[in-house]
Amino acid sequence: MSLFSALGRKALFTLDPETAHGVSIAGLRSGLLPTCPPVADRRLEVALAGLAFPNPVGLAAGYDKNGEVPDALLRLGFGFTEVGTVTPRAQSGNPKPRLFRLVEHEGVINRLGFNNEGHDAVLRRLEARGGRSGIVGVNIGANKDSGDFVADYVAGIRAFSHLASYFTVNISSPNTPGLRNLQAGEALKRLLDAVFEALAQQGRRPPVFLKLAPDLDAAAVGEIAGVIAASPLDGVMISNTTLSRSGVEGHRHAGEAGGLSGRPLFQRSTVMLARFRQQLPATLPLIGIGGVGDAATAWAKFEAGAALVQLYSRMVYEGPFVARDICKGLIARMDREKIGAISELTGRASAEWAAKPLEGGSLEN
Ligand SMILES: Cc1cc2nc3c(=O)[nH]c(=O)nc-3n(C[C@H](O)[C@H](O)[C@H](O)COP(=O)(O)O)c2cc1C
Repeated sequence: MSLFSALGRKALFTLDPETAHGVSIAGLRSGLLPTCPPVADRRLEVALAGLAFPNPVGLAAGYDKNGEVPDALLRLGFGFTEVGTVTPRAQSGNPKPRLFRLVEHEGVINRLGFNNEGHDAVLRRLEARGGRSGIVGVNIGANKDSGDFVADYVAGIRAFSHLASYFTVNISSPNTPGLRNLQAGEALKRLLDAVFEALAQQGRRPPVFLKLAPDLDAAAVGEIAGVIAASPLDGVMISNTTLSRSGVEGHRHAGEAGGLSGRPLFQRSTVMLARFRQQLPATLPLIGIGGVGDAATAWAKFEAGAALVQLYSRMVYEGPFVARDICKGLIARMDREKIGAISELTGRASAEWAAKPLEGGSLEN
């Protein structure tokens, strides 16, 4: 970590996590923070779902919920970024405090509950970008008090299809009661049918990714994989935060309700990624999320089956240049191991990862 990052982390950690998040967004908006030249290397480029990713390390949803700083994030070295989750109407989310750092574990627990400014405000901001280059996905969700979750996703498709680089259909937040029920076979099929029917009526057809939870048993994985394989989805993101507290037992925040992310999520989310890789058609790309924070964890995600990775929590611990640092580390290891393109790694250890236990592991076992 650079001196700047170390000092910045120290200062931000004196603030409560949500205030620190607001300060970091304000810093990025100000344009006053140092930027870093992107790591440009052909070997890091990934072509997927008609998009050309300059590198495979993206920022996950939830950091820039309202689309305030996508271009600043791309300038930090992320190969792509994702706005949202955005719901049709603005909503304030759950009462504070609702965001907790588990510093000793490099983890985070959140129960924000889709606090966001709603479609209109986010749309105005993205339209103001004026079609600038860079891959900016839009992650869509449902209002907590919605009478019809499916209609909320359809509204998201209609609102953003003219400018989203891609859509993420997020049905895996643990903080909106009932949302994860959309992962059940019949409900998922109905949702996807509605999403693609709405998309067919738009003038543009961006790729659509589905974002899943890591808390699924073998029967659920099989059922969901069946529905996905029969759908026109362009990719699957694994995973969102977990309800498990494995690895953080006894921590003073372990009992907080919400989803756990960061380093403690790495094993579970990587094993789930590999299990889906084993069950889904090889042509369907997967995006690995959960505990990525350095080149070793990103490398493992690719080997488990990811074509791209995203991260959020470990940026809190590693600093703003985490994507650049990961890219540098990937290139150094590709040099050492004579790997010509990141895609050569994808899935080459997915059987091994799929057979590991969901809990209690580390990169080495
Ligand atoms: C504070 C916080 C807010 C989040 N908000 C969202 C969200 O709005 N939508 C979403 O799909 N995922 C959200 N996530 C989940 C992340 O996008 C990601 O899937 C998860 O944290 C695992 O990645 P990580 O270990 O790198 O953080 C959020 C995560 C955190 C820590």
